[in-house]
Amino acid sequence: MRQLLIDELKDLYSAEKQIVRALPKLARATSTPELREALHTHLEETKNQVARLEQIAEMVSKKLSGKTCVGMKGVLEEGSEILEEMDKGTVRDAALIAACQRVEHYEMAGYGAAREFAKTLGLNDAAQLLDETLAEETNADKKLNMVSKQVNNLAKQAA
Ligand SMILES: [Fe+2]
Repeated sequence: MRQLLIDELKDLYSAEKQIVRALPKLARATSTPELREALHTHLEETKNQVARLEQIAEMVSKKLSGKTCVGMKGVLEEGSEILEEMDKGTVRDAALIAACQRVEHYEMAGYGAAREFAKTLGLNDAAQLLDETLAEETNADKKLNMVSKQVNNLAKQAA
């Protein structure tokens, strides 16, 4: 069970680092200021989430590097495809929001599972930190949902 938690943490660590690398490019590709702002805010949050995972790594005396989260790689690749396939504008923004929400949901699933593993193992401090990140991801998803209402309406007019 402890190994299962470590594996889950390694996966999340790789996922978060991939997101830190991908977000600036996605933010630059947007044309809605609110969306760009939301992605920049989440970039800063994500850096803090990486730091939280490193804190947990110290708690369990394990290194989290050396694994690639293939799932997140695929989700982010789909995000990059949007940049290649669509011109800049509100329709592309709508597609980018959908891609970013996939990222958030993928993370929410991972953090939810990891938090429960940590709880089961009695690692309450780790569970607490994972819960904080899970709340941030949930919030980021909600914010994207709100921005999407505005963007989708603009995209409808543009199309
Ligand atoms: Fe994250």
